[in-house]
Amino acid sequence: MENKKVPLKFKLYEKMHAGKAMFKGIKEKVGGKKMANFNLEGKKAIVFGVANDQSIAWHIAKALNDNGVKIALAYQERVESLVKPLLGLLKDPLAIPCDVMDDNLLDSFFEKVKQEFGNVDFLVHSVAFAKKEHLQGKYFDIDRRGYQLAHEVSAYSLAELTKRTYPLMNEDGSIIAMTHIGSEKVFPNYNIMGVCKAALEASVRYISQDVGDKGITINAISSGPIKTLAASGITGFEKMLEHQVKSAPLKRLNSADDVANLALFLCSDLSKNITGQVIYVDAGYSIMGI
Ligand SMILES: NC(=O)c1ccc[n+]([C@@H]2O[C@H](COP(=O)([O-])OP(=O)(O)OC[C@H]3O[C@@H](n4cnc5c(N)ncnc54)[C@H](O)[C@@H]3O)[C@@H](O)[C@H]2O)c1
Repeated sequence: MENKKVPLKFKLYEKMHAGKAMFKGIKEKVGGKKMANFNLEGKKAIVFGVANDQSIAWHIAKALNDNGVKIALAYQERVESLVKPLLGLLKDPLAIPCDVMDDNLLDSFFEKVKQEFGNVDFLVHSVAFAKKEHLQGKYFDIDRRGYQLAHEVSAYSLAELTKRTYPLMNEDGSIIAMTHIGSEKVFPNYNIMGVCKAALEASVRYISQDVGDKGITINAISSGPIKTLAASGITGFEKMLEHQVKSAPLKRLNSADDVANLALFLCSDLSKNITGQVIYVDAGYSIMGI
């Protein structure tokens, strides 16, 4: 093979850079204290939003737990009979009924987590609700209470849960919320939930400022449509599935496991300098114009 000449300026740069790195510890200064690694063993997570084994939150909780993370599950009482059988599939979980609209339940949930876990590393927010009649027809038919209710559960709760988790949270922790591209573009019937997701995504950006001093990151995962309990409330949801398969560059749907894989990455040190972002797991659907 031909021996290519290396320009003198490249050689000089190489020498200078190696010298700087050695004497000033530059490598450690770029980007934070820890070297990147994917070991989550011994970490602890709070997970809101498991209703059944289809729930995105369930796939995330299971993936975290399989990677050595202890899980504190907060579930709504109305889904207790669906959640209880799943608990046997987790190693040593803490599972407590809770509702993001009920301050007393929130108080006792966080008190219990404090007692049992002491501190936590991750918060997963996978919670949303709007009345079925507000997920169809004309958006402007929403009433004041429906608007408030949807926002309280689906967007405000991220601030509330973060406020309560922050004092327990270790440095370099991670917060993850679930969103959908209906925050930016119009999906018929998604209506009020699109508006809630816009508020949720903006909250992610503002909260990233609030928690950054402890090295904590917060990001939203924007998933393509997945058949779940919440999704069944959206009129014409099947059309969203069909449209992704037809239009996305990869011509397929994404799964809740794809979302869980991204959540693992966002909880690991590999993503320590990614915060305030909305990251898409949608087979590329969101990049298409037509
Ligand atoms: N399924 C999809 O197509 C899809 C796509 C993008 C984003 N998301 C988002 O993912 C998240 C999880 O939804 P999912 O699809 O897994 O459905 P899901 O029905 O399994 O999860 C929704 C969860 O919200 C919980 N919840 C509702 N009201 C609550 C309250 N007052 N207090 C506490 N918990 C409450 C429910 O108990 C349930 O566990 C939601 O934020 C949803 O908007 C879903």
